[in-house]
Amino acid sequence: MLNVIICGAPGCGKGTQSALIVEKYGLKHLSTGDLLRKEIAEKSELGQVADSYISKGQLVPDEMIIDILDKNIEAFGSDINGIILDGFPRTLAQAEALEVMMSKKGKKIDTLLDLNVEKAELIDRLLKRGITSGRSDDNLETITKRLAVYETQTTPVSDFYKKLEKYSSIHGMGTVDEIFGRIETVLDSKK
Ligand code: AP5
Ligand code: MG
Repeated sequence: MLNVIICGAPGCGKGTQSALIVEKYGLKHLSTGDLLRKEIAEKSELGQVADSYISKGQLVPDEMIIDILDKNIEAFGSDINGIILDGFPRTLAQAEALEVMMSKKGKKIDTLLDLNVEKAELIDRLLKRGITSGRSDDNLETITKRLAVYETQTTPVSDFYKKLEKYSSIHGMGTVDEIFGRIETVLDSKK
């Protein structure tokens, strides 16, 4: 069992690297952003609430996302190789709730992979993606807000996992394959 968190600023490559991790390590992928966008596309009640936050670059309320995450982890069952959490936890309250949730399930987080990418590169990647993504948050105004929210609300999550000695900093610049190579080195040491 290998349970991993992948985090980092908007556009750092969480989704891109998660796909490669799933392929090599056979983990179940849980992206809270993808789950919320699915709810928005289905025009569910939850999706409508989520959209009002996402389109402004704000985080959705902790209680809402913790509940969604718990249900989705539960739905995987116990016969799995592990989980990769993409975009969760994003606040200290979410990190604390995750630790409680995992220990109740008799599971633990092995490491947090923190993808570090320069700000100009993040903006460049997201603006490029915005040309085709259709995401309501891929425009310069919202990207700027997302980056600021990341700095103030999500950076403390890294400190939380540093204290637990489960923090792995990954240099997130370079090609997708180069970055994946750095991730493999860390994950192979955790198996
Ligand atoms: P979320 O969907 O998690 O978005 P994000 O964190 O802003 O990150 P992105 O998905 O935009 O980027 P990514 O890091 O996955 O990078 P990607 O691989 O796509 O969250 C969206 C919103 O949902 C939040 O703002 C919030 O409102 C809400 N939300 C989600 N989770 C929440 C939570 N836990 N609590 C509260 N609210 C929550 O790559 C980006 C682009 O770069 C792609 O086009 C890709 O092809 C390209 N790229 C990737 N790697 C490289 C590379 N090495 N070189 C060049 N280009 C690259
Ligand atoms: Mg993503």
